[in-house]
Amino acid sequence: MKEVRVGICGLGTVGGGTFNVLARNAGLISGRAGCSIRTARVATRTWRDDIDLGDIPFSTDIMDVVNDPDVDIVVELIGGYEAALELVLAAIAGGKHVVTANKALIAVHGNEIFEAADKAGVVVAYEAGVAGGIPVIKAIREGLAANRIDWLAGIINGTGNFILTEMRKGRAFNEVLQEAQDLGYAEADPTFDVEGVDAAHKLTIMASASFGVPLQFERAYTEGISRLTPYDIAHAELLGYRVKHLGIARRREGGIELRVHPTLVPRSHLIAQVDGVLNAVLVDGDAVGQTMYYGPGAGDEATASAVIADIVDVARTIQGGGAGRVPYLGFAPDAIENLEVLPMEFTQS
Ligand code: HSE
Repeated sequence: MKEVRVGICGLGTVGGGTFNVLARNAGLISGRAGCSIRTARVATRTWRDDIDLGDIPFSTDIMDVVNDPDVDIVVELIGGYEAALELVLAAIAGGKHVVTANKALIAVHGNEIFEAADKAGVVVAYEAGVAGGIPVIKAIREGLAANRIDWLAGIINGTGNFILTEMRKGRAFNEVLQEAQDLGYAEADPTFDVEGVDAAHKLTIMASASFGVPLQFERAYTEGISRLTPYDIAHAELLGYRVKHLGIARRREGGIELRVHPTLVPRSHLIAQVDGVLNAVLVDGDAVGQTMYYGPGAGDEATASAVIADIVDVARTIQGGGAGRVPYLGFAPDAIENLEVLPMEFTQS
């Protein structure tokens, strides 16, 4: 059986989860990939006593992973912008495939990254960056490939949804945010969670995969949950609504709209029932109608599940004899429509 070798950069919440699930389910993961998947190297700045690396080489320098000829797939789980961008571009330049959970990196630098990957003939996969363990990118790119997608909407930040759920029970915002941080759900900078930035990153990526447009994160309307009070939440409930923090993308005449903000959702709607750290994404396709994807939006092994699904995909691609035509956010580069993100229109739907 052929072997595909993985180098993991970052052994934090998601990196640790990825290492553990790869080790625990090695046999079935390799069976699904059609080749043996082996962790060949790890780079981490934070040592973890709870993880047994055995005889796997490790260091504190992420570039050791890129420069290791024994690594076929670089798994970027360090987060942030500059160092991650440098790592990913170096991996691509070295002819290595990349799997990342870094939505900020893809939303902000994805156009540059995919162009470089296309030229180098390698794959950059990013399922774990959107909605944690829910395979929503695969659903959009593969399951809904026949459809013209006109809109999608969803709860795409687990921390924010956890906070809103607990505030409904009367708990204070700051206390619940601290709990989300302790549980490993929140971003390194939790203002990304509570001010809507993380959701806007994910929405930008989903919109590009759905509509075939370049990534335009800076054009998304972004509003968080930090100004909501328990009174707002209780009052909405009295009126038959639930306050949910939604990301919404839709086609409009001459462009698309990207918006992230607290929304009043009728309490009877499925989306209103999604509580805690769970995420849900509703996608409207012209052939299939509405489909909804639901599950854990954050957490170590839940997100690792999506990281490893991408590793399996890339391993299958490697066995197919190379990446061939690299799908840019699910679309061939010459199929990209240069639609712009338009200013938000206030509508009720
Ligand atoms: N901070 C993110 C969230 C992690 O709470 O959804 C998963 O992307």
